[in-house]
Amino acid sequence: MREEKVLAVREFTRWSESYDRSILQWLLFGPSHRAMIRRIRQTMGDRPFRLLDIGCGTGVFAALVRRELPRAEVWGVDLVGGMLTKGQARWREHRSSVLPVQGDSENLPFDSCVFDVVTCANSFHHYPRQDRAVREMGRVLKPGGRLLLVDGYRDSLWGWFIYDVCVATVEGSVHHASARRFMDLVGGAGLGLAAQTVHHNLAPFLLNEGVAGAGMPEPHFRRSRTTTAHDSSARD
Ligand SMILES: C[S@@+](CC[C@H](N)C(=O)[O-])C[C@H]1O[C@@H](n2cnc3c(N)ncnc32)[C@H](O)[C@@H]1O
Repeated sequence: MREEKVLAVREFTRWSESYDRSILQWLLFGPSHRAMIRRIRQTMGDRPFRLLDIGCGTGVFAALVRRELPRAEVWGVDLVGGMLTKGQARWREHRSSVLPVQGDSENLPFDSCVFDVVTCANSFHHYPRQDRAVREMGRVLKPGGRLLLVDGYRDSLWGWFIYDVCVATVEGSVHHASARRFMDLVGGAGLGLAAQTVHHNLAPFLLNEGVAGAGMPEPHFRRSRTTTAHDSSARD
């Protein structure tokens, strides 16, 4: 296993104990989860759909999906057994429609073209081969399926300080991609970039949206770039 992944396993095995009580649930994870739920509701409407949450951790987002979007069938995948184990009560509560699996984002243990929605929240900066992970996300999506990928927004001065200085110092070998880099990764994986939305909270985050099989756009396909505040510049 590559060094970055060994570090991620060590970090999250240790953090799993207190993860659900972390202040980041309030500062970053909760707001980013709610932003994804809003977008999924807007794009999926009342249809039943199958969702894969990559880097699902203790299942906080999976449980929220089930509460807010009861027609969803949810799969979660995470590299770290300790995080999945810590979410046991959630997996049990939603066992009829939520299935956790241990696996690596860069080599997803799923067939191709099986999910309508793929989500990945606050996990992407841990992946050493981000290009491979996005290709995997595209592979498991059905044509027309949606990718929602959230990670810390590091293109503003404040974001750079939080993620590239503070988080990188605490977590070690992590890489928060710029908005420009996300564009390239999503395009390089053969997905259409539908939108990028910057959320300028205390812990700012960037929601990237992709569409699989962008050669055959769905009616809701939007090719746009949206920011909620002044700073839309992207730095690598
Ligand atoms: C900060 S937590 C985010 C958890 C959850 N997505 C959320 O928003 O609350 C990052 C998660 O990514 C997982 N992770 C790290 N590297 C991974 C990889 N290569 N494949 C799958 N999961 C990974 C970690 O184990 C951890 O559970």
